[in-house]
Amino acid sequence: MLTTFPEMFDAPLGSSIMGRARESGLVECLVHNIRDWTRDRHRTTDDYPFGGGVGMVMKPEPVCDAVRDLRSEGPRGVVILTTPQGEVLDHRVVQELAAEERLILLCGHYEGVDERVSELVVDREISIGDYVLTGGELPALIIMDAVIRFVPGVLGAEESAQTDSFAWDGLLDCPHYTRPREYEGLSAPEVLFSGNHGEIAKWRRSQAILRTAARRPDLLAGARLSDEERALAETVLRQERD
Ligand code: ADE
Repeated sequence: MLTTFPEMFDAPLGSSIMGRARESGLVECLVHNIRDWTRDRHRTTDDYPFGGGVGMVMKPEPVCDAVRDLRSEGPRGVVILTTPQGEVLDHRVVQELAAEERLILLCGHYEGVDERVSELVVDREISIGDYVLTGGELPALIIMDAVIRFVPGVLGAEESAQTDSFAWDGLLDCPHYTRPREYEGLSAPEVLFSGNHGEIAKWRRSQAILRTAARRPDLLAGARLSDEERALAETVLRQERD
């Protein structure tokens, strides 16, 4: 991570699954302060935009020096700039990034980063969605979190990334229930207590299809479905239309 706000990473990188993955040595996350690559007395990382306008622009020299320094040690890595102008993060992009040995996440801030940084040292620009945040630190953490789940050993076999939403044939996840069996008049579905693992798996799969058709019909086009499953999805789509 290359950032001007390193403290923003302390809690997320030290907690929960990301914290555990780091402690167990499955992943290494280093947070670097871009200010450490400034050369002036005030450790300046931003400046006024040429041509005028609001906000500040991140200067190219400290960022490019930082990236080049980091790249001089270890694998070359992929340099990612977090920006609303980038390609939108999705399951496919996460899997591509997870296949890389090293990621260097450059967190944009203020009005943006001098365009020459992108030309000189950035490999990929990534957005986490069509809205604008105050900085690229949270997007970088989201990218890290999503990528780390695909590092072998980070999730237990049970919580394996392969069975979650979007990894499961491109469908949304099915509903989940735990104790108590009845809560405020609502019962967990009977099939989950049947002990019949085949039936439970079938129910979960059909729930995933029904939910996807109702909530995110756009995903169905890319989902891997049998003819029977596609017919089920079509029924929901027809009902939604009527
Ligand atoms: N920086 C500000 N907004 C962002 C977004 N939506 N995605 C990535 N980086 C950003």
